[in-house]
Amino acid sequence: MREPIVIANWKMNGSTEANRVWVEKFLQLRGDLECRTAVCAPFVYLPQLVSLLKGSGVAVGAETVSSRKNGAFTGEVSADMLADIGVTLSIVGHSERRTLWKETDEDVAEQAALLIEAGIAPVVCVGETLEERESGRTEEVVLRQLRAVLARVPAARLGAVAYEPVWAIGTGRTATPEAAQAVHAALRAELRASDAAAADKLPLLYGGSVKPANAHELFSCPDIDGGLIGGAALRAEDFHCVCSAARAD
Ligand code: 13P
Repeated sequence: MREPIVIANWKMNGSTEANRVWVEKFLQLRGDLECRTAVCAPFVYLPQLVSLLKGSGVAVGAETVSSRKNGAFTGEVSADMLADIGVTLSIVGHSERRTLWKETDEDVAEQAALLIEAGIAPVVCVGETLEERESGRTEEVVLRQLRAVLARVPAARLGAVAYEPVWAIGTGRTATPEAAQAVHAALRAELRASDAAAADKLPLLYGGSVKPANAHELFSCPDIDGGLIGGAALRAEDFHCVCSAARAD
């Protein structure tokens, strides 16, 4: 019913040459994957990736976007600029942006709104810290983050929602499939309350130390429709392995 999608988030990694090699390798390996795929990369490499992946079916995405439309905001990159160069999706609200760059729920909602206005699909990240999990506040936190976006944009216009527990990112610690599924079910229920038809179609992705060894188990959960992959997306071979664990129902 929902076509799975697996998205690479390269974070602040890559080089012109390394990207070229990655794309060549991934396109060679891709074969008969049953999921959609996308690569999110640093702004400077997006034109290169748009060009290398043109016509391949692999989407190109940004890792964040400005919460302002245009004007005197030195160093910012707008949603309209991303659309102008052929980018079709963008991560918003990654926990590294929320914690290190102090992006708020309202900033994330504004970014999502500007992306949609520019015709780009937002991939909205939500996730709790270890302290929030240990104090039993996981659902409260992720639902608050999701509601802030849904108050500003319709669920039907989102590209995906990615649940990324902060304590699982880059740590080698993965949420158990049961724990991840429970949060995904809560997110799906919240989306259903806002738009039932959209909720059934929207991919909910898991992110946080997904690798070839655990992807199958995670992606087999009923409400996990793919992944947002950091470390394991840096090698085309590993990313391909993770993608091959995502199968259509
Ligand atoms: P890792 O896969 O390296 O844990 O990163 C996850 C992530 O933050 C993807 O956005």
